[in-house]
Order: sequence, then C-alpha cells, then structure tokens
Amino acid sequence: IAVSKGNHRHYMLKEIYEQPIVVAQTLRTYLRRLEGELAPLPVEDFDLASVRRVTIVACGTSFYAGMVAKYWFEQFARVPVDIDVASEFRYRAPVLEEGGLALFISQSGETADTLAALRHARSEGQKIAVVVNVPTSTMAREADLLLPTHAGPEIGVASTKAFTCQLAVLAALAANLAKAKGRLTPAEEREIVRHLSEAPASLNGALAYDETIQEMAGVVAVARDVLYLGRGPDYPLAMEGALKLKEISYIHAEGYAAGEMKHGPIALVDDSVPIIVIAPSGPLFEKTVSNMQEVQARGGKVVLISDYDGVRAAGEGCAATITMPKVHPLIAPLVYAVPIQLLAYHVAVAKGTDVDQPRNLAKSVTVE
Ligand code: G6P
Repeated sequence: IAVSKGNHRHYMLKEIYEQPIVVAQTLRTYLRRLEGELAPLPVEDFDLASVRRVTIVACGTSFYAGMVAKYWFEQFARVPVDIDVASEFRYRAPVLEEGGLALFISQSGETADTLAALRHARSEGQKIAVVVNVPTSTMAREADLLLPTHAGPEIGVASTKAFTCQLAVLAALAANLAKAKGRLTPAEEREIVRHLSEAPASLNGALAYDETIQEMAGVVAVARDVLYLGRGPDYPLAMEGALKLKEISYIHAEGYAAGEMKHGPIALVDDSVPIIVIAPSGPLFEKTVSNMQEVQARGGKVVLISDYDGVRAAGEGCAATITMPKVHPLIAPLVYAVPIQLLAYHVAVAKGTDVDQPRNLAKSVTVE
C-alpha cells in the first residue's frame, strides 16, 4: 500500500498525529457510544464468563500495551493475569490450565516469537484471542477471537498509533470480560463507555503540547542516561517511554516502577540524568510525587508530565513540566503516551538520527 507522509517530516510524526482519528475509528467497533453500551464481541465457540485466567504474550511495544491491560483485567474483571514476553514464554514451561484465555498482541500479526507462543498455547488447550493491526496476518487467521485495531498501516519502525489503538481495544476487552462475569452494572458500563469515548478529544488536547515538548527536548538530547518513572498502569508507560527513546535517539533509557527506584536506579541519579515522571493526578499521584522528590533531593533533573492540578501541586523545582488535559485514570495511559512519543521524536530529530528507520531495528521481526 502506498502511504505518504503528507505534510509531516517523518512517518512517525504523522502517525503520532493520526492517533485521535485512528483511536476513534477503533473504538467505533467496540462501543455503542450513543447507547452507552459495549458492542458485543464476536465470541463464538466459548463463553467469556467461563474464562478463569488470562495469559498475555507479546513483544516490544505490544508487550507494554499488554502490561497496562493486566491492571485493567484484574481491576474490572477480577481475573488473574499472567504476562510474558513471547521469547521467554516459549522457553519456560508455562502452566496453562483449562478455561484459560491466551491473548496475543501484535501490530503486524507476524512476529515469529509471538506466533510460536500462540501455537504453543493452542496445543495446550487455550482459547486464543488476538489484538492485531493487520487483519490478513497469520495471527488473525489463527485466532478464536479476533480483535482488530484500526490504526491503518504503520510505517515508522517505532510503534505509536498501533499502541494507543491496542490500549483502546484492551480496555474494551477488559470491560467485556467484567460484564460477562457480572461485575459491571449498567451504570458502570455507561461510565466506561463515556470515558473511552472521550479519549480521541483528549489525545487531541495532548497533541497541542507538541511545541512545548519540542522546546524542552534539548534537556534530554544531551543526556547519556534517562530514567522514566511511573506507578500502576503508568509504570508500563514509563517502560514504553524508555523504549521509544532508546529505539530512535540511541540514548540509554530505563523505565522503572516509581516505588522500586530506591532499590537500585537511584544510585545512578545525579544532575546529568533527566528523570521523566509520568504522574496524572489521581489515586497514585501523591506516592509517585514522593518518589520524584527522592530523586530531586539527589540533584536529579525532573521533567514532570501531569495535568494542571498535578503540575500546580508538584511542579516547583522541576527542570520542566508538561501539562496534559485532565483525564479519567482509565484513559490516562492512552493520553500520556502522546508526550512520551513526542519527546522521543524531538530528541531524535535534535540528534539527527534516522527516525523512521533506526539502525539495527526492523518493523516486523519474523525470525526468532
Ligand atoms: C519490532 C518493532 C516494534 C514492535 C515489536 C513487536 O521490534 O520494531 O516496534 O513493538 O517488533 O511487533 P508486533 O508487530 O508483534 O507488535
């Protein structure tokens, strides 16, 4: 398929900007917005209510989408979740009991390790659900439950719009699972549908900070190491932020659970290490801020990404702040993906790397 960059300098930037539209497009399949209901999923030969455990397997950015989803499946549906990268899942001896749903997440639907893991799970009697962006892919064909993302072709090697679309589908799946298990009242269902429906507008709101992020990219571009911190569903987002930066700017970065930092990475902190803190205001905000203050006390240069209330409460003493629209915690991982993508992008541009085709990386890894 011929895809053009339009007015954008790189495919990656174009794809970042497409997110409000493609997330809306994806959500249309999963929500009946006007009725305030989830659209039923095409589940045929099994019953979501009977799912006793979910095993999530994926690679790279798709794996981090799965890690966010683990929080949702447990919180909404109270179903235990196991998650692993595909290359590990294949070579350990995972215990896959009857009544298990194995969930594979992949932009391409062709990643060799993920596909091998899918076939292994099937041979162990699991029902197979896949979240894929390429509907004609091998994984799509081998699924019992096909959950497409409608991100359109993604050309940039570093995944962006596929990630936020995966999150949208996974949130809808978590809600469907909760509903099937009788854990969602109609009022709660309406609330979830309403919050998810607000995601495209909030993604647009997040894109409005592009210039601010571009201006502060210099703080990060000169660094040798960068730390990303988050808690709860924003912890996988911290890892995704670090991955984006590594992939396209070649700066060493690590994503860490904010509360775990004192068990190691804090030893790295001095005034040459920027620390990107992802902290939307909400139930986990205070805890994350107290971890942030621990690194500030050691001279760390903090870039705080929060909303207006969060920046007002904790922005003082930060090297920079990025103010996101105020959003419901459910959609925060989608919305906060935008500033970490833009930050990686602008740092890479400042360093002059090949943003769309970073060295040593492939868009789709079809070898082990
Ligand atoms: C490669 C790409 C990543 C992607 C990963 C998984 O490493 O460079 O952007 O996240 O593969 O790909 P998949 O198509 O399975 O999501």
